[in-house]
Amino acid sequence: MSVTINDNYLLLQDNYLFVDVARKLENFQNENPDKNVIKMGIGDVTKPLPKTVVEAFKKAVDEMGEANSFRGYGPEQGYSFLAESIIKNDFKPRDVNINTDEVFISDGAKCDTGNIQEIFGLNNKICVSDPVYPVYVDTNLMAGRGGSITENGTYSSITYMSCTEKNNFIPELPKKSVDLIYLCLPNNPTGTTLNKDQLTKFVEFAKKNNSIILFDAAYESFIREDDVPHSIYEIDGAKEVAIEFRSFSKTAGFTGTRCAYTIVPKELYGLSSDGKKVSLNKLWNRRQTTKFNGVSYPVQKAAEATYSPKGKKEIQENIDYYMENAKIIRKGLSDLCLNVYGGVNSPYIWVKTPKNMKSWDFFDLLLNEANIVGTPGSGFGLSGEGYLRLTAFNTLENTKEAMDRMSKIKL
Ligand code: MLT
Repeated sequence: MSVTINDNYLLLQDNYLFVDVARKLENFQNENPDKNVIKMGIGDVTKPLPKTVVEAFKKAVDEMGEANSFRGYGPEQGYSFLAESIIKNDFKPRDVNINTDEVFISDGAKCDTGNIQEIFGLNNKICVSDPVYPVYVDTNLMAGRGGSITENGTYSSITYMSCTEKNNFIPELPKKSVDLIYLCLPNNPTGTTLNKDQLTKFVEFAKKNNSIILFDAAYESFIREDDVPHSIYEIDGAKEVAIEFRSFSKTAGFTGTRCAYTIVPKELYGLSSDGKKVSLNKLWNRRQTTKFNGVSYPVQKAAEATYSPKGKKEIQENIDYYMENAKIIRKGLSDLCLNVYGGVNSPYIWVKTPKNMKSWDFFDLLLNEANIVGTPGSGFGLSGEGYLRLTAFNTLENTKEAMDRMSKIKL
């Protein structure tokens, strides 16, 4: 045998977190086919696509079936009609100037946050919050930026910013020099956020240390509080240090439809190994045009419809619906004397396990006794141990039922 593998993959945990959760659920359902399990694990939306979005989607499909309006390959970066709508609706109202050639439309923020590391050198030091959305760490491990696995399951070359009750889930600025800083705000999994002053400190740190912030804003549409930035570019000078990722998945119910976008400002540079400044926008464009053929025309038309007055209204109604669930979960858990975080500017609720139970033990207890699936906090990293994540992406009825069931078990 002569074919070798990418050994970096051997550093990964056996399964992606949500695959483990799905397997546990499947086993439970096989053994208990009569039990009605309420799924509050993976953050997947449950409400159908808004009517306006579906109409635009269908109309675009019809166009594809007519000779005079059929389209083949579209631009790899996405159609300008969508990029223009994005700029007009997501950035202009916040006084952020973005050019159409800084917008890269894609099939998901998971893919983009995972792929972006390809344009950076392997010697860059990575910094993540802990707990963390696993994609940031795993994709850097695959590329070879992880170093070795340590005794407690962390990776030697990665810098972790621990976020727990002790620091109110506000990541402390890294003490050592780091190059790529991943921030997800509102945060997945903790559901907590940073206010403008707190985020400004990260932008200043990045400027001072020549770092780049990879800012995942997939949950920005759930922000309710005034002082929480929706875009990192609301912070002065952030266009010189940050790439921002956005998604239609949670905002508009596109988890199965697939559309997202990434902003790579022209101001951003990295150094080549011979010390020359190279535009990151140019590199990402080169990467995308080589490896990606764009999002389908009907999907981009559907995404554009999310910005129409009717589309906006329908989307807001769905978000309000989920946020009402979040409120119910927060209250239900607080009434049980559990410490609850998130759920104010986010569809995720992060709850401290009772009696210092381990995350997976609490997961098992909820599954077996209340037939509720959550996501164990420890699956998101060392500092997630002792917490569990619940999502508000469910029906109001199921959410109420879940809280009722929890109130009846012995915690
Ligand atoms: C989650 O549950 O954390 C989400 O589904 C993550 C994702 O969007 O990939």
